Amino acid sequence: MTTQFVKPNGLIYLDGNSLGMLPAAVAQRLAMVVQQQWGHDLINSWNQHDWINLPLTVGDKIGQLIGAAAGQVVCCDSISLNLFKLLAAALQMRAGRTVVLSTEDNFPTDLYMVQGLQQLLGNDNCQLKLVPEQQLLTAIDQQTAVVLVTEVNFRSGRRVNLAELTQAAHEQGALIIADLAHSAGAMQIEVDQWQIDFAVGCSYKYLNAGPGAPGFAYVAERHHNQFVQPLAGWMGHANAFSFTREYIPAPGIRALLTGTPSILALAAVDAALSVFDGLSLQQLHEQALDLADLFDDGLKQHNIAAEFQRLTPAERQHRGCQLSYAHEHAYAICQALIAAGVVADFRAPHYLRVGFTPLYLSASEVAEAVNKLAEIMQQKIYLNEQFQHRRGAVT
Ligand SMILES: Cc1ncc(COP(=O)(O)O)c(C=O)c1O
Repeated sequence: MTTQFVKPNGLIYLDGNSLGMLPAAVAQRLAMVVQQQWGHDLINSWNQHDWINLPLTVGDKIGQLIGAAAGQVVCCDSISLNLFKLLAAALQMRAGRTVVLSTEDNFPTDLYMVQGLQQLLGNDNCQLKLVPEQQLLTAIDQQTAVVLVTEVNFRSGRRVNLAELTQAAHEQGALIIADLAHSAGAMQIEVDQWQIDFAVGCSYKYLNAGPGAPGFAYVAERHHNQFVQPLAGWMGHANAFSFTREYIPAPGIRALLTGTPSILALAAVDAALSVFDGLSLQQLHEQALDLADLFDDGLKQHNIAAEFQRLTPAERQHRGCQLSYAHEHAYAICQALIAAGVVADFRAPHYLRVGFTPLYLSASEVAEAVNKLAEIMQQKIYLNEQFQHRRGAVT
């Protein structure tokens, strides 16, 4: 399995929840697309290599990983942009209701997108209401137009029950938009079966498609006829090359497209997805949970567990593929880990996140990572001056 990835020598990578490792197939595909398709076949490639349909063919492949039948997923833009489009469309579909209900500690861009729409549409048409994650289920009421929820919380690693939330939303006549950033490629998801209305996700984390690779959006087929997205662009037109003045949306999921997609980035997603051929996402998630338990047990065996406050729940059904720990020196500990060859990450104000990706992470590497963390904690290496100061803009 690990030979499918380009692994830097000696590095233990616990950050696949932020940026996945490079699959060898992506490097090969990009070289081919650059040299042959772009370099040689040039503009013919839009037809010859079906570039024009790549957002949809790649979308369908992502669909297979999230339980969506063909024709409901498109690969384009970022989570932020796709959320804007879906939020606006969903609010229109629930005219008369104004509330977008979300969680206080949802990923900021999700909340910013609602705030931006609120500014644009005015408070009479859009209002953001935030509740603690544990209260989301009971906070849905007849004013709720849309429930906007991230399945696995980026800070705590806690997983909500999307099937249950979707049912509760529908009982109140509300729609649900699920952010699958920390779910797609990490665990089994069944968007069709759970009756989810809309979903978004990225391909740069567990799907390993590279930094800034395009995201995806899912619109359940039953909404395709009512669904109108505001960023009407020529690529979402029913006949882009008719160059007519009037915008007529393409039927189905293609209408979510706005401008010209990055073919290189889409080719990277396409190649990255081949890693999942024949794999069971449920099994992959179980393996990730085993690795996470190994890590956490290791902290106990080294008598360092008590120094951290664990945020991630213990129950497997409430977890994604990461563990999060609060510690007042989390930033410095993370820097010391990186200096020791173990890549984890830090989230403000004081959380250490460690991600477990069995596609390219082994049990022995996890044990080694714990040994290094134990040394850092027991010898208080993190107090060294070099680890104290925040240098890079990205943590
Ligand atoms: C839950 C969640 N949503 C959204 C994003 C980022 O969205 P975008 O793809 O627009 O940068 C992240 C990034 O880590 C995330 O964790």
